[in-house]
Amino acid sequence: MKKVFINGYGSIGGRITAFLKDDPEISVIGVGKYSPDDKVNQAISKGLSVYVPERKIPDFKNYEISGSIESALDDCDLVIDASPEGYGYRNKKNLYEPKNLLAIYQGGETTTGDQAVSDLLFNSRANYDLSRDKRHVMQGSCNVTGMGRILEPLREKFGDSIIRFDVTLVRRWADIEQTEKKITDTIEMTEKPHHGEDVKTYFGKDSPLFVRAIKVPTRQMHLHIMDVRFKDTAPNPSEIHDIFTNEFGVATLWTAKGTKDVRDYASTMGFNFTDTNMIHIHANMTVSIGDTVQIMYSDDQTGIVIPENHMLMQSMLFGKSYQEAFSHTESIFHMKEKKQKLEEHFAKEG
Ligand SMILES: NC(=O)c1ccc[n+]([C@@H]2O[C@H](COP(=O)([O-])OP(=O)(O)OC[C@H]3O[C@@H](n4cnc5c(N)ncnc54)[C@H](OP(=O)(O)O)[C@@H]3O)[C@@H](O)[C@H]2O)c1
Repeated sequence: MKKVFINGYGSIGGRITAFLKDDPEISVIGVGKYSPDDKVNQAISKGLSVYVPERKIPDFKNYEISGSIESALDDCDLVIDASPEGYGYRNKKNLYEPKNLLAIYQGGETTTGDQAVSDLLFNSRANYDLSRDKRHVMQGSCNVTGMGRILEPLREKFGDSIIRFDVTLVRRWADIEQTEKKITDTIEMTEKPHHGEDVKTYFGKDSPLFVRAIKVPTRQMHLHIMDVRFKDTAPNPSEIHDIFTNEFGVATLWTAKGTKDVRDYASTMGFNFTDTNMIHIHANMTVSIGDTVQIMYSDDQTGIVIPENHMLMQSMLFGKSYQEAFSHTESIFHMKEKKQKLEEHFAKEG
């Protein structure tokens, strides 16, 4: 059994930990906490060992912590870093590299420039095999992962007959459990969003993909508005939807009025958290006009990257093939069943 440490126990780290506890191939040796707050006891009550930075041990004197992060990492095969943006790079330099550890980073980091955590931005659909011999790999962010789930199948089916993709990312302000983060009543413009360049690391640096982004005051998922332009007349909506019938992590919904409908239904499905772990094409919004197809899909910001981390971990730790990793991830995340339930609940009326 391989030993994994999760450094950071927020929206992403908490979820990764919950799923890894169900994985018989993995022993979760503990989670890293940085602030002495309620989440320490929440983690302990779930049977987790909590470790904190050596220098902060005195701050946690009122909690039953298990020791320092530094010592926990001495007895570990792979670390999943789930720290706030930018801290992953510092952890790599200060902790993981000196201890010669395998490490996975999250999408708030970068794969370019002098703060790059890796030269590979992982997307299981696009570049699974490239991760197998790497020691440090970054999982793409939720928006980058979601875009890949639409772009790759479209390109595989229509290839050069597509001449450009224009995407507007409507990003959520905060996550549901980030109650300390206030939602501000404004629509914020994002200058030079990184998402397009991130996607191009696996989609091709010269691909005709143009991305802009705004942030809106909601906690209920991201929404991507995508226009796909073809050389000639664009396919009709059903030809587009058909491509995604058997696609992993993509549900096609007809009757959701908004992102909260999807989240609310997810909370009744009986799985971990209120996650769907996927994107949802809002099929009633797909329109074909002349040479262009308009598509909208929502992206489960907190859930979508968790099965991806699980796939990546199996590649790096066990050198599994895509199919082997995929089957094991499916046995833990039940993505097929989730997709089916969502599609039945939001099926076309009449
Ligand atoms: N939230 C999303 O929807 C989402 C989706 C995809 C990717 N991501 C990416 O995932 C990463 C984590 O985001 P998040 O939303 O989970 O953040 P978050 O909820 O704010 O949690 C961050 C966690 O990191 C801990 N932490 C603080 N300093 C740290 C350090 N130096 N090293 C390691 N951990 C540290 C925090 O501990 P304390 O609470 O104890 O201070 C907290 O538990 C970011 O790169 C983000 O861009 C987020």
